Amino acid sequence: MTKTMMNPRMLASAVESACRAPSVHNSQPWHWIAEGGELRLFFAPSRAPHATDRTGREAVISCGAALDHLRVAAEAAGWQAKIARFPNPNNLDHLATINFSPMPFVTDAVRARADAIIHRHTDRLPFAAPAAWAAFLPVLIGTVDTEQATLAVLPEAVRPQLAEASRLTESLRRYDSSYHAELQWWTTPFETTDGVPYDALVSASEGDRVDIARKFPTGEHPDRRPEVDRDRSVIVVLSTYGDTRRDALGCGEVLSDVLLEATLAGLATCTLSHLTELEASRNIIRALTGGSGNPQLLIRIGEVPALSDQPPATPRRPLAEVLEVREPAEGG
Ligand SMILES: Cc1cc2nc3c(=O)[nH]c(=O)nc-3n(C[C@H](O)[C@H](O)[C@H](O)COP(=O)(O)O)c2cc1C
Repeated sequence: MTKTMMNPRMLASAVESACRAPSVHNSQPWHWIAEGGELRLFFAPSRAPHATDRTGREAVISCGAALDHLRVAAEAAGWQAKIARFPNPNNLDHLATINFSPMPFVTDAVRARADAIIHRHTDRLPFAAPAAWAAFLPVLIGTVDTEQATLAVLPEAVRPQLAEASRLTESLRRYDSSYHAELQWWTTPFETTDGVPYDALVSASEGDRVDIARKFPTGEHPDRRPEVDRDRSVIVVLSTYGDTRRDALGCGEVLSDVLLEATLAGLATCTLSHLTELEASRNIIRALTGGSGNPQLLIRIGEVPALSDQPPATPRRPLAEVLEVREPAEGG
């Protein structure tokens, strides 16, 4: 029987959209192989920032976000993705194999979600409080696949504890020279295809208005978004039941869902992971979310006043570097 296949150009375009996914330090730790209409996603350990993310957990979360972006982009192009996660127990870097089948109809909602991939970006400036949060929360909760991760909203009252945990992480790392060297390396001011560009970082005075943030090397800017005197975002935490590579991949898929849903609602987002990298601060987040589960990420979600400064789109590696197209083996 002949298999219906997505045409190669469409497949390449879906992978390009998938690679717009967020990744720790914009490291883009993924590799895709297309062969015979099937797509395989691999974790690329050599790209993971090991001094920040010692076990590669955040890099796999990043791959999970790319996998969900891929699913969304394929659906908008009229193809349903059937995903087999960890299809090869002997190679856990092989995160997923994806097969596609044509969909009878593409809804406007699916197209809008794919558009959100282009509009989403990490915003490190302060946010105003999300005015329609009460109406948005049930929508957000509805998108979370609770078999993969759970979402907890932290009450405003715990904000001082979070800020304290954020400072604790920074002070525990004050003399960790490999961590700081790595941060410098991923935030080079030169034009590259990966890393966090200077424009996407905050200046010292902008950073003073955001109490919960990873301290990156500071960018030099005139003070942006001065109308927001301090960050009033809502903070949500994504946690998983276990702490395996499978959990990390699932958490990444949920991260993508949450970020795209917030973007669709016109909200700005900033993913934060410094608070879950060291056991001391991770334990504080665990206690704040009820004491069970494994906190993976925090996300600031808020509103950006109209006409306010927006961070620029961050670069991505060229498609030819991340997507390998193989001719199917003869007789296969
Ligand atoms: C697992 C993960 C961890 C991240 N941790 C942080 C963080 O601690 N602080 C931060 O400002 N951004 C963090 N980010 C955002 C990335 O730096 C961002 O996705 C990347 O630079 C690409 O930019 P973009 O999201 O605007 O496309 C994280 C993203 C992911 C997926």
